[in-house]
Amino acid sequence: MENISDATKQFIDLRRHMWMAGIEVDLRRLIWQIAVTGKYISSKIQESNRKLAGFENIYGEEQLALDRSSDEIIKRQLEFSGFVNQYASEERESIIQVGKGGEKYIVTADPLDGSSLVDTNLAIGTIIGIHRESILTGGDKSLIAAMYITYGPLITMIYSAGNGTHEFVLNREGEYVLSEESIILKERGNIYSIGGLRKDWAQKHHDYIRCLESEGYKLRYSGGFVPDINQILIKRGGVFTYPALKGNPNGKLRLIFELQPMAFLMEQAGGMATDGRKSILSIEPKTLDQRCPIYIGSKYEVEKAKAFLDGNKTAI
Ligand code: AHG
Ligand code: MN
Ligand code: MN
Repeated sequence: MENISDATKQFIDLRRHMWMAGIEVDLRRLIWQIAVTGKYISSKIQESNRKLAGFENIYGEEQLALDRSSDEIIKRQLEFSGFVNQYASEERESIIQVGKGGEKYIVTADPLDGSSLVDTNLAIGTIIGIHRESILTGGDKSLIAAMYITYGPLITMIYSAGNGTHEFVLNREGEYVLSEESIILKERGNIYSIGGLRKDWAQKHHDYIRCLESEGYKLRYSGGFVPDINQILIKRGGVFTYPALKGNPNGKLRLIFELQPMAFLMEQAGGMATDGRKSILSIEPKTLDQRCPIYIGSKYEVEKAKAFLDGNKTAI
């Protein structure tokens, strides 16, 4: 869409933006309904009880009551939407039916990403993928939209339905209004966000990180995937990585619930996302809880990571 002046942006709410972008009506309604759950989840966080729910999620991690209540809020919203057939969440062992059958979309969610940070008051988030086909066998054309909501000093929501990547901010009237339209990353940035314990990194990953540091990259890592990715998008460049680890070659982050939606948004912003060799969006998930190493951000840094991991580069 043509460049919208800052003064006008505040009058473009999410629904109008999606209508202007020509997104089909059911998808517009679904994205808006999911964005609305962000308000409910945010108020849950405000009143959050920090007791552990005592339930095990499928990764064997203890989960906070907030994870479960966030998951329930999204599921209920989808159940009565009329557009969603199935729902898959990192908090559930299997994909569940939330429609009568035959509805257009399948939704994946990391209902609350970074929940271990709740007690530190650092930003946390919700990550959503919207698929047309099967989550597991639909191939790389299945994912047709992605979004995340960041619960920080402001509540912001980033979405793409293949029409570029755009940021909205929840205003005092409770409307999501346009704040950053058609985010496009620069060729390279100057921040790096690196997960996993250094002692567990492979030598090629060490060499890659050392190269970034020799080029003056600044460390920005909060331990929350959503704000760490959001920083790279809003600063228009840089790289986030959670690599393969000694004893854990698939790293930590979940392909379906975390990496595919972020890869979709980053590519729509002119960035890249790879497991170190293949693009994230080309990887066909074998299981719901499949994990995968990740290098995601602006082209220069992600291409450099591939070169180091292919062994074409040596340490500086
Ligand atoms: P979740 O809270 O959904 O389980 O995700 C936590 C993830 C992700 O947010 C973050 O990038 C990563 O865990 C941080 O892992 P470390 O604590 O090992 O750094
Ligand atoms: Mn997560
Ligand atoms: Mn989570």
